Amino acid sequence: MRSFLRLLPSLALLQSAFAATAEDWRGRSIYQVIVDRFALPEGADPTKCDPGAQTWCGGTWNTLRDNLDYIQDMGFTAVWISPVNQNYEGPRTPYGDAYHGYWIADHSQLNSRFGTAEDLKALSDELHKRGMYLMVDVVVNDVMAPSMKPDYSTYMFKDQSLYHPYCAISWDLDTENPTVVAGFSSWVKDMVTTYAIDGLRIDAAKHVGPGFWPQFCGAAGVFCIGEVFGSDIDEAASYQSDTELDSILNYPMYTALMDAFAIPGELNTSSITDTLDAYKTKFKDPGLLGNFLENQDLPRWANVSVDPQSMYNAMVFNFMSDGIPIVYYGQEQGFSGNADPWNREPLWPSKYANNSATAMVASLNQFRNYLVNNSTNDWLHSKVQVLTTDKHGLAIMKGEVVSILTNIGSPPANVSLAVYTPYSNNLAMTDILSCRQYVVGSNGTLSVEYTLGGQAKVIVPTTSLQNSGICGAQIQAVQQTTGQLADNAAGRLSVPHSLAGGLVLSLVLTVLGLVGNLVM
Ligand SMILES: *[C@@H]1O[C@H](CO)[C@@H](O)[C@H](O)[C@H]1NC(C)=O
Ligand SMILES: *[C@@H]1O[C@H](CO)[C@@H](O)[C@H](O)[C@H]1NC(C)=O
Ligand SMILES: *[C@@H]1O[C@H](CO)[C@@H](O)[C@H](O)[C@H]1NC(C)=O
Ligand SMILES: *[C@@H]1O[C@H](CO)[C@@H](O)[C@H](O)[C@H]1NC(C)=O
Ligand SMILES: *[C@@H]1O[C@H](CO)[C@@H](O)[C@H](O)[C@H]1NC(C)=O
Ligand SMILES: *[C@@H]1O[C@H](CO)[C@@H](O)[C@H](O)[C@H]1NC(C)=O
Ligand SMILES: *[C@@H]1O[C@H](CO)[C@@H](O)[C@H](O)[C@H]1NC(C)=O
Repeated sequence: MRSFLRLLPSLALLQSAFAATAEDWRGRSIYQVIVDRFALPEGADPTKCDPGAQTWCGGTWNTLRDNLDYIQDMGFTAVWISPVNQNYEGPRTPYGDAYHGYWIADHSQLNSRFGTAEDLKALSDELHKRGMYLMVDVVVNDVMAPSMKPDYSTYMFKDQSLYHPYCAISWDLDTENPTVVAGFSSWVKDMVTTYAIDGLRIDAAKHVGPGFWPQFCGAAGVFCIGEVFGSDIDEAASYQSDTELDSILNYPMYTALMDAFAIPGELNTSSITDTLDAYKTKFKDPGLLGNFLENQDLPRWANVSVDPQSMYNAMVFNFMSDGIPIVYYGQEQGFSGNADPWNREPLWPSKYANNSATAMVASLNQFRNYLVNNSTNDWLHSKVQVLTTDKHGLAIMKGEVVSILTNIGSPPANVSLAVYTPYSNNLAMTDILSCRQYVVGSNGTLSVEYTLGGQAKVIVPTTSLQNSGICGAQIQAVQQTTGQLADNAAGRLSVPHSLAGGLVLSLVLTVLGLVGNLVM
């Protein structure tokens, strides 16, 4: 009896959906997974997955659930999974097999390749137990048709009149037809409830007629983020509205980040500032856009840009500006496949190792998660602004955080960037990526040099890190009265309150042999 009573609260917790709204999603950080490629079942041959073969490799909802530690350890607070509904199961097509899940045949069934209804519920429950959200990819505008005369009886919508006339690859459902709208609305409501789904990613959102999404997402009762492929800002912005969607994937900024950071490339940082300027007036709510560098349709960042620092700097932009950061599985392992199908590599050959990219992702998530709930000036709702631009980079500021980004790449360079901040002279600041301290100079300048290579800097007043656990910041903040630089990378500086900060600081610097090494 006693153990039964103890179980009750946790069962209640497990079964409740978060039914998360756009506002709930704003502070999240998303890891995107192609279920077939994330993890193998016990005993499977790890050498047998060739992306070029375009066929199933064996990942399931259960193997994803068994490996959630990997995702959570990097600090992600949500997982977006590839579509869950039944796919075309006929003979192999010229585009291979439906391993990715996007070739929907019957919306009303689950895809048995990836598991049972119980498995999908167990995945959802396990994510919720960890305080994480589940986002599911949905495809509603078309169904897969292997020939000119599909067998409509195999689809959720069985009457030919509910489809648009034939178009090359798939059969377009007529999403302006009231029967289709009502059918999809009750379908999505049922699916979201049954599997306690917290958000939807909507495939090819722009191919669906106006007015469909408010009804569909209203019925779902959760956040909807749509794929609107293309770099045109006006077109993209038109899809984030009361008559369309909560949000869309941030394709225009992806294009700008490529222009600014890819090596070799245009190295055009104005592309970012121009895009941010346009966003101010054009987008309803840039803080909800889905910021990404890779996905299942695009070449991996590393296939386009050979220098890892280019990805790290662009990634910092995605985490430290407005919008919801999204990382596509394998990006944190430096995967470098070209576009579809080469960008759907199996993750297991990486051995889920910890490396500099996973460490970077973990630091950014840890810091952003901290800011989301613990920033004294509402970091999450503050609007990003550009402080400084330069041909080698730019500095942005959101809330109290100054991010200084460069496109010079890994090799050391005799380049420095002076950034004007609103901070006052002598304020102690910390770069959360290197844990090095900076001191604000006259006229609010922060000056960075790239003599060790083009690492991104994410700089915040040291006092803002108190109790965060970041950079050993359980220690008391050093009282800065000297305007000099301290390096507390190891978090060892512990300054008793009773002593004058300036005196103690210079003593410690002398002991560490750091006096004179004032500017990085
Ligand atoms: C940089 O990008 C902007 C668009 O944002 C464009 O107007 C400008 O011509 C580009 N500069 C170069 C050198 O390509
Ligand atoms: C880009 O992808 C293609 C196909 O996956 C591969 O052959 C090529 O080596 C990749 N390029 C880089 C720079 O990794
Ligand atoms: C990576 O680091 C985490 C701790 O952050 C640890 O739990 C995990 O086992 C490590 N993974 C590998 C493959 O070493
Ligand atoms: C912020 O706090 C809320 C409530 O405690 C929690 O549910 C959420 O996961 C936290 N968000 C982050 C990003 O840590
Ligand atoms: C670095 O560049 C500055 C000018 O920008 C120059 O005065 C200085 O000599 C250079 N230092 C080295 C080590 O090349
Ligand atoms: C002081 O900072 C402003 C930007 O905030 C800049 O325009 C100005 O040139 C700076 N003045 C000096 C003397 O550096
Ligand atoms: C940050 O905020 C969360 C939720 O509001 C709270 O549980 C947590 O203790 C805070 N963390 C720190 C380090 O203050």
